[in-house]
Amino acid sequence: MTTTADQGTDLAALLSLDDVALAARRVLAEPVWDYVAGGSGTESTLRDNRDAFDRVHLVPRVLVGAATYDLGTELLGTPMGLPVGVAPMAYQRLLHPDGEVALAEAARDEGAVFVASMLSSEPVERIAATGAAVWLQLYWLRDRRVIADLVTRAEDAGCRALMLTVDVPRMGRRLRDMRSGFTLPGDVVAANLPPEVRAPAHESGANSSALMVHTGLAFDPKLSWRDLDWLRGRTRLPIVVKGILHPDDAVRAVDRGVDAVVVSNHGGRQLDGVVPSIAALEPVVAAVDGRCAVLLDSGVRGGVDVARALALGASAVLVGRPALWGLAVGGRAGARRVLSLLRAELEDAMAMMGCADLRALGHGATVPVGGSVPTMRGRASDDAPARSAGWSP
Ligand code: GLV
Repeated sequence: MTTTADQGTDLAALLSLDDVALAARRVLAEPVWDYVAGGSGTESTLRDNRDAFDRVHLVPRVLVGAATYDLGTELLGTPMGLPVGVAPMAYQRLLHPDGEVALAEAARDEGAVFVASMLSSEPVERIAATGAAVWLQLYWLRDRRVIADLVTRAEDAGCRALMLTVDVPRMGRRLRDMRSGFTLPGDVVAANLPPEVRAPAHESGANSSALMVHTGLAFDPKLSWRDLDWLRGRTRLPIVVKGILHPDDAVRAVDRGVDAVVVSNHGGRQLDGVVPSIAALEPVVAAVDGRCAVLLDSGVRGGVDVARALALGASAVLVGRPALWGLAVGGRAGARRVLSLLRAELEDAMAMMGCADLRALGHGATVPVGGSVPTMRGRASDDAPARSAGWSP
C-alpha cells in the first residue's frame, strides 16, 4: 500500500475519517463534493444521524484479561475481516478514475464486503473480478426484465448477495444538487444498464434529483412486498433489504424470507426529518429477534460508531461517504486508509470495552442519554466476556 495519494496527500497524516473528509474536500470540485456530502431538504436528518451516534454511550468492562482482539465475523456466508461493508454508492468514477474497482480492491484487502451499486460506473463483472466479496444493490426499475437480467449477471459474476433498496419510491429533494445544477460528466455512466435505460429522462417531476433526471432512470414508485416475493422466487442468493426504519417492516421482511435488513435512512438523502438510523436500530433488533441479521448505515464516522452499532445489536455496519472521500484522496490506497482507520479504532474500542471479540460487544453495553448506568443481572464468571453479565437498562 502506498502512503501518498495521487494528489500528493500524505495518507499517513490522515488520522480520522474527518481528516479524510477535509482532504477530499480540497481535491474535489464543489458540485461533486456537494452531491456526495449533501442530504435532502434542510439536512436535519443528515445532522441528526451524527448527533444521535454521539448520544450513545458505551459502558466498558474492565480486567477481562484479553490481549488480542478478534474483529472477524461471518455474514450471510461471507467471511469478513471486520464487521464493515462499503455501502452501495453510485458513480464512483466521479471521485476517482479507478472508481468502483479501486474501492472494491480496498475492501478486499481489508476484509470488508463491497456492495456494488446498481448505478456503478464500472460493470458488476469487473468489480467482482477484483476478488472482493461483492453484493449487488438493486433499485426497482419499471422494466422488470432489466432487474431479472441484473440478478442473473450478479449470480454469474459470483456476487454473494443482493441488496434491494426500498426507501426510494422517489428521490429525496437534494437542494445542493438543484442549486449547483449538478450533472454527470459524459464519461461517467451507469455501466450495468443498457443504453436505452440510461437515456435522458423526459419525465422529471419537481422532486426528481439531478441524479435521476440526468441518468433518466425510471425507478418504479410502486415497489411493494409482492415485488420482494418475485425477487425471492428468482434467486438463491441471500437477499438484504436496505432502508428499513420501522420494526414492523423488518418483521414483514423476515416473514418473506429476507436474510438481512439494513436499518438506514439513506444517509439523510431521502425523507428529511426521519428518525436517525442509530435510534431506529434497537427496536428493529428486538422485533426480528435473531431471525435475520441486522445491519446499519447512515452516520458511521469511526470505529467507535461501529462499536456503538454492534453494542445495540447490529451484526455489521455499512460505511458510505467516508469510503468515497478516501477514494477521492488516494484511489485504492486512500480507500484502504479509511477502512484501516476503522479497523484500528474499532480494535481500540474493543480493548477499552473489555471485549475480546465481536460477540462480546453485545446488546446492553450502552447507556441511553440521560439513562443511569445499568445494573448487573446475574454474575459473570471471571473469564466471561462482558455481555455475559447481562446488563439491564
Ligand atoms: C442515490 O441513492 C443517492 O442517494 O444519491
